[in-house]
Amino acid sequence: MEFIDLRSDTVTAPTPAMREAMAKADVGDDVYGEDPTVNRLQKMAAEQMGKEAGLFVPSGTMGNLAAVLTHCGRGDEVIMGNLGHTFLFEGGGIAALGGVHPHTLPNRPDGTLELEDIRGAIRDADNPHYPTTRLVILENTHNRCGGVAITPEYTRKVGELAREAGLKLHLDGARIFNAAAVLGVPAAELAAPVDTVTFCLSKGLCAPVGSVLCGSKEFIARVVRIRKQLGGGMRQVGVLAAAGIVALEQMTGRLAEDHLRATRLSDGLAAISGVEVEQKALSTNMVFVRLAEGVPTDSTKVEARLKDRGILVGAVGPRRFRLVTHYWIDDAAVERTVEAFSKVI
Ligand SMILES: Cc1ncc(COP(=O)(O)O)c(C=O)c1O
Repeated sequence: MEFIDLRSDTVTAPTPAMREAMAKADVGDDVYGEDPTVNRLQKMAAEQMGKEAGLFVPSGTMGNLAAVLTHCGRGDEVIMGNLGHTFLFEGGGIAALGGVHPHTLPNRPDGTLELEDIRGAIRDADNPHYPTTRLVILENTHNRCGGVAITPEYTRKVGELAREAGLKLHLDGARIFNAAAVLGVPAAELAAPVDTVTFCLSKGLCAPVGSVLCGSKEFIARVVRIRKQLGGGMRQVGVLAAAGIVALEQMTGRLAEDHLRATRLSDGLAAISGVEVEQKALSTNMVFVRLAEGVPTDSTKVEARLKDRGILVGAVGPRRFRLVTHYWIDDAAVERTVEAFSKVI
């Protein structure tokens, strides 16, 4: 059976154009800085983020980790959301590998952090009882808050606050191009207020592997050593960067299609009695739904019954699911999913 896989946009296989570009890629030893395809990708990525330089890394997790380890030393503190990917889903790497202390603040439903909470979380640098606050992390789009986009206005406010307090600001922009698409602004505008940004070429952009960490030339030069320490210095990796170039050239401009399908999916599911959709402003390619009270089943059972019908969804709580649209989900897949949900419920 061919499955309709809505568990995540990380399940996307590369497009035919990517496979062709990968087969033909010019390569060299990237640890020597000699892979022309990687160099081209990094230049394109930095331009798109409006930063001086970019560095290809194997994953979004490594991009965020390398950024934190470069901004912070052992015992330093990072302010971040309690629903942020870096806090929840990156294996506690910043603490385990960097001795960096996470200071979590409650994410509001729109993915932001209250400015006053951020201000209140900044430690008194003269008091030796405290760790030293060094960095703030935002996430755009915000995954666990529903795949919602964070506006440039809000990011600017956090940027100003961070600068005034002498802190750095990092953006986990794994899906920054989804945010740019729904807000109708260039990704560079979303990244302008931040010192560093990681974005992913995999996920909605369909490349099989890879993220790029962007920032100033001086910062990226320091990240090169950290990436090496983490084992992320790769050799003839132009074969992967070639897919990343196709992602930037051909895939960012079509994300609005995924968002439109997510809206259709959300509307279709909302019409089913027993299903409640968490509809939010500025949502992108993610749909979060819940089983209504009184529906005598749970998400694991529903997940299994949908699988029997060829539909894969992600149970993210006892009565909650996440469905993510992407390049390989077409209109027919959306219709089949709504129909299957209706039958199963
Ligand atoms: C918001 C966010 N940041 C970072 C990552 C990590 O990316 P990777 O899976 O490439 O490590 C993910 C992965 O889904 C994500 O959703």
